[in-house]
Amino acid sequence: MAKPPKPKGNSGRSYRSDAGVTKTPKKSRGRTESSRRWIQRQLNDPFVAEAKSRGFRSRAALKLEQMDQKHNILTHNAAVLDLGCAPGGWLQYASQKIGLTAGHGRLVGIDLLDTDPVAGADILKGDINDDAMMHELIRLLGGKADVVLSDMAADTTGHRPTDHLRTTALLDIALDMACRVLTPGGVFLAKCFRGGAEKDALDLMRRDFAVVRHVKPAASRAESVESYVLATGFRGENSDGERLI
Ligand SMILES: C[S@@+](CC[C@H](N)C(=O)[O-])C[C@H]1O[C@@H](n2cnc3c(N)ncnc32)[C@H](O)[C@@H]1O
Repeated sequence: MAKPPKPKGNSGRSYRSDAGVTKTPKKSRGRTESSRRWIQRQLNDPFVAEAKSRGFRSRAALKLEQMDQKHNILTHNAAVLDLGCAPGGWLQYASQKIGLTAGHGRLVGIDLLDTDPVAGADILKGDINDDAMMHELIRLLGGKADVVLSDMAADTTGHRPTDHLRTTALLDIALDMACRVLTPGGVFLAKCFRGGAEKDALDLMRRDFAVVRHVKPAASRAESVESYVLATGFRGENSDGERLI
């Protein structure tokens, strides 16, 4: 008989929440109840089952698929940068879409955590805030990017305003990177926890891209503060960021 899944958050070890952020369970009596609810949701979640049955490493892959199907984000032969790529669901989906295994396109990813290899993709382990990492990503890309993806999420502290600021800081750095490497007409898609602090980043996006919209794929739980921002039609020449390529 198959072993029942280990209760997430019950072991005292960190675990990944539905929004993909790493959480450290509180040592309190409430822990058991919340981890029970988490397991129940996972077991009843059709997207968890679908991602597993299709061989995706994360249900996040379905979020990207849903956004891509609606907004045509990834095209055959595209050069794609994936920020915060572990465990690799977005890499897997992007690889299929751009035709990477047949030798089309470029796919480069980075994460603080280990990511298992994806055929044809270059994956770095490190912090996007590290200048050396940024330059290495650009070297691996070998030219401009057509699409910059960011599903980066910061570890949560449990203090909602702090968590919002930390995730918004990742949105800022992802946008900065996008403005440095995107080709004119390029696309930027990033996780964006709504809460107010993201306003400056959105203003910059509206200046540097033709169209900016919020996107909430069906696989992103309605009760989660998680949302995505999709910016298309990078204006290139209007960006005042230092261009690295
Ligand atoms: C929601 S997960 C990404 C899931 C991924 N899109 C997938 O499909 O498997 C968010 C990731 O962002 C990463 N991350 C957070 N801050 C980062 C940073 N400063 N540099 C690189 N990666 C970061 C985390 O380690 C985490 O693995």
